[in-house]
Amino acid sequence: MTLIATLESPRLILRQWRDEDLDEFAALCADPQVMRYFPAPLTRLEAAALMGRLRGHFNEYGFGLWALERKDSGAFVGMTGLLNVSFDAPFTPAVEIGWRLARRHWGVGLASEAAWACLRCAFSQLQLPEVVAFTTASNLPSQKVMQAIGMQLDPDGAFAHPRLPADDPLRPHVLYRIDLQQWLHTVRA
Ligand SMILES: CC(C)(COP(=O)(O)OP(=O)(O)OC[C@H]1O[C@@H](n2cnc3c(N)ncnc32)[C@H](O)[C@@H]1OP(=O)(O)O)[C@@H](O)C(=O)NCCC(=O)NCCS
Repeated sequence: MTLIATLESPRLILRQWRDEDLDEFAALCADPQVMRYFPAPLTRLEAAALMGRLRGHFNEYGFGLWALERKDSGAFVGMTGLLNVSFDAPFTPAVEIGWRLARRHWGVGLASEAAWACLRCAFSQLQLPEVVAFTTASNLPSQKVMQAIGMQLDPDGAFAHPRLPADDPLRPHVLYRIDLQQWLHTVRA
C-alpha cells in the first residue's frame, strides 16, 4: 500500500490531516447548514472521532478524504476525497467520492476543483475501474458537483441508505457513477 499523501489542484492542496485542523473541522461539522442533509451536526468529540477514522482510512488504503487547504491563504476549506463504501448495497464493493466544505468557501468552484483532482487520482494513480457518488435525493448542491465532474445518474441505482431509519426523510438516496472511459471522454472534451 502506497500512501497518496497529497494531491494538488489549481487553487488547493489536498493534504493529510493535522491535529491543528480539529478546531476548524469541528466548526465545519457543527454548522447546521453544512450538515442539513445529514442526520445531525456533530459535536466536537464526534468530529475528533471522525478525523481519527479519516486518518485510519489513509493508513489502511493509502487514500481517503483529504483535508483541503487554499494555496493562496493557507485557509482550511474542508475535505474531499475517495472512500471505500462501508455498507453493503447492490453497487458495492465500490469507491465513493465525497466532499464537505465550510460555507464561506461555497460558490467559487472549489468542491468541483478538488473532486477533479480526486477523480484523476482514482483513475490514473489508483487505476480504479469506477467511482460512485451518492447523496440524499434532496441534496441538489452535491448532485451539481457530481454532474460538474462528469458523473452520470444511474436511474436504476436509487437506494434506501441502510444506516438511516426507515421513516427518515433523508433515507432515499440517488447514485451517480463514472468509469474510466467516461472520465477519459470528459477530460478530453
Ligand atoms: C456540496 C458542496 C460541497 C457544494 O459546494 P459548491 O461550492 O456549491 O460547489 P462547487 O465547487 O461545484 O461550486 C459551484 C458553484 O460555484 C460557482 N463558481 C464560481 N466560480 C467557479 C469556478 N471557477 N468554477 C466552478 N464553479 C464556480 C458555480 O457557478 C456554482 O454556483 P451555483 O451553485 O450558485 O450555481 C457544499 O454545498 C457543501 O459542502 N455542502 C454540505 C456538505 C454536503 O452536503 N456534502 C455532500 C454530502 S453527499
